[in-house]
Amino acid sequence: MTKRDKKEVINKVINYLGSNFKNEDTGHDYWHFIRVWKMAKKIAEAEGGDLFIIELGALLHDIADWKFNNGTNEVGIEKAKILLKDFGVSEEIIENVCHIIDNVSFKGAKVKNYIATIEGKIVQDADRLDAIGAIGIARAFAYGGGMGREIYNPDIKPRMHASFEEYKNSKGTSINHFYEKLLLLKNMLNTKTAKKIAEKRHKFMKDYLVQFFKEWDGKI
Ligand code: ADP
Ligand code: NI
Repeated sequence: MTKRDKKEVINKVINYLGSNFKNEDTGHDYWHFIRVWKMAKKIAEAEGGDLFIIELGALLHDIADWKFNNGTNEVGIEKAKILLKDFGVSEEIIENVCHIIDNVSFKGAKVKNYIATIEGKIVQDADRLDAIGAIGIARAFAYGGGMGREIYNPDIKPRMHASFEEYKNSKGTSINHFYEKLLLLKNMLNTKTAKKIAEKRHKFMKDYLVQFFKEWDGKI
């Protein structure tokens, strides 16, 4: 595939996402895909990897998400395969992209998820960076609201979920999500570049929580 062909495929994928995920309300909207795509490209500049696979993986990384596919990855993976084949992408590249889609997602604080390729590691980092910092805070409350979760409840303590089932079915608050996932992400990143970017975002969330609890107690 020429550079131009690849660019055309990327544009087609973006158009597809634009017409299918604009009104998605679980924090996996079109703009999340676009931010992850841009961040993945930025990380790739420093870390390498096959840029075409990274871009496709980033754009499509949530297409198989368990939250909107009856709890399994298969439907989404199949969707991605058909789409990419339709756009003329080779089997080999599709395989690589699907490996990313299949393994990118966080499934609980104590649940291991391993992604083998450098392309996958970069997409996973870009996705995780979008879950922390100011954007991460906004997404957590948007998602929590969408799921009918409370902002905070001092009677419900955060839990380190040991299985995906437990994590998936948890009924905790949005503030708990910071302790169950968001504050852990900094130490789960794969690349040096992402770790550097995460520092400021992580600190911003910690400062935010300090302020939140002071206000909760009416101290300031
Ligand atoms: P990702 O797209 O990073 O894989 P998820 O699919 O886990 O993220 O979730 C999408 C967004 O919603 C993320 O910003 C995530 O932190 C947030 N989120 C997920 N679960 C919860 C929850 N239980 N409470 C609040 N926010 C959540
Ligand atoms: Ni994502």
